[in-house]
Amino acid sequence: MRRKFVAGNWKMNGSLAGNEALLAAVAAGAASVSQVECAVCVPFPYLAQAQKVLAGSTVGLGAQTLSEHAQGAYTGEVSASMIKDFGCRYVIVGHSERRALYGESNAAVAAKFVAALNAGLIPLLCVGETLEEREAGVTGKVVTEQLDAAIQAAGVAAFSKAVIAYEPVWAIGTGRTASPAQAQEVHALIRARVAESDASVAAGVQILYGGSMKPNNAAELMGQPDIDGGLIGGAALVADDFLAIVRAGA
Ligand code: PGA
Repeated sequence: MRRKFVAGNWKMNGSLAGNEALLAAVAAGAASVSQVECAVCVPFPYLAQAQKVLAGSTVGLGAQTLSEHAQGAYTGEVSASMIKDFGCRYVIVGHSERRALYGESNAAVAAKFVAALNAGLIPLLCVGETLEEREAGVTGKVVTEQLDAAIQAAGVAAFSKAVIAYEPVWAIGTGRTASPAQAQEVHALIRARVAESDASVAAGVQILYGGSMKPNNAAELMGQPDIDGGLIGGAALVADDFLAIVRAGA
């Protein structure tokens, strides 16, 4: 039985002063929903603060991207081992904003996926189609190519230590959620694709949905057979909303 997993993606939001209360509230609220795996992925400068506030809680910590390189002359980059230094268990790779705004190709995302695994971090691999791609009927092809790049680079067994997040780009930050049936269809396709390489890895891998998941739609989405949780953007910035989504996974 796969455990439900709700992860917050703060994106480029937060402040030292504001984070304190949000992190403390999430830590306190998540404690009573320990059957649901819970994490927050915060901006790099706040990892130390989050590590401290979340210490001893059931809430895991993650970063939002990483370098594909281990160390060296890569000005501005942050390595997997640095992220590990701050007690992180997770790192998001291949978020659609990274792909669209920072030119991360499937190959670049796959290299980051491998770098995370090599350091013992659990990568949250994001895949998803744009509105144009959905309307052109190529959702399956796009998502499969994104997934295959990581499977080819890391091997399918890596997915026993990784998480997949299906995030239709048209649903991110738009208030327009994929219907539970639309999301389930793609989640099932993703699981089937992994199963083509290894059925038992496919049966175990958590596949999260992301894209305007809110307290009022979370339970129905997570009630679908292949939706194992959520990657939460906007609603992760409001403790009550985030915790309501965590509880919806219970
Ligand atoms: P959203 O973002 O919940 O604000 O749509 C989700 C994400 O981009 O991970």
